[in-house]
Amino acid sequence: MSYIKSSLLDEKGFVVLDRYDQTADPQEWLDLDYVEWKSSGDTRFAPLASARGEIEVNGFWNHQPPRTDKDGVWIESQVAKAPILARRAKEPGANVGRCRVIELQPTTYVDALYNLHQDDNNRLNPDETGWIVRAFFNLTDDPDSYLVLREERYDPTTEIRLPLAAGTQVIVDTQRFWHATWHNSESPRYNLITSWESGPALDAYIEKYHGHNDHLNAPLDEAVIDEAQDAVQRRLAERAAALAEKRRG
Ligand SMILES: [Fe+2]
Repeated sequence: MSYIKSSLLDEKGFVVLDRYDQTADPQEWLDLDYVEWKSSGDTRFAPLASARGEIEVNGFWNHQPPRTDKDGVWIESQVAKAPILARRAKEPGANVGRCRVIELQPTTYVDALYNLHQDDNNRLNPDETGWIVRAFFNLTDDPDSYLVLREERYDPTTEIRLPLAAGTQVIVDTQRFWHATWHNSESPRYNLITSWESGPALDAYIEKYHGHNDHLNAPLDEAVIDEAQDAVQRRLAERAAALAEKRRG
């Protein structure tokens, strides 16, 4: 398959944009309607654009007819409550698929490693069209929390930890990276996630906001990483055993 990709994003799989002045805006995300939807932690979702313009967050490929994560339908009632968030998602002019605010309760580093997953945004995406990537705009100020990315799920040397201060704006190839959030806080984190189609419009937007992929992880003790690796393996083994037990009935 050959897709149109942004060269900067393709190089390392992520791009960091200029920080947005989040403090100047009202907390629109608190006004939105949320649905219960568990994904990589204790989460709820408030969709702004969905498969058919309804307040639900299922993958577009689970609808009839199944389709890829493009041509999201804006939900009028939600956009009316969060016009600035909708404007930011539409700003590049790239095709938008799913667009939603995610509320995540605090997680540990071990939780994050356990929750690492790859997205499936490009399922059913037609060849020769734009590769679908995802924007993460942090709405709450979570400077001690990180978006954790790994090229290899169990290899900590491939780990990138992007800190999540308010106004942090990153674009990630979430089908390439294993990813999850380490939300090291006492209160929920709110984050706007938008699926965008790669192409000239997205490239121009990345350039406008000085997209770059230079990043150095803040130090994390080797012992903490080793312990977390072991804890995740234990959890995975426990889960496998529980599932096997269930199958035996
Ligand atoms: Fe994901």
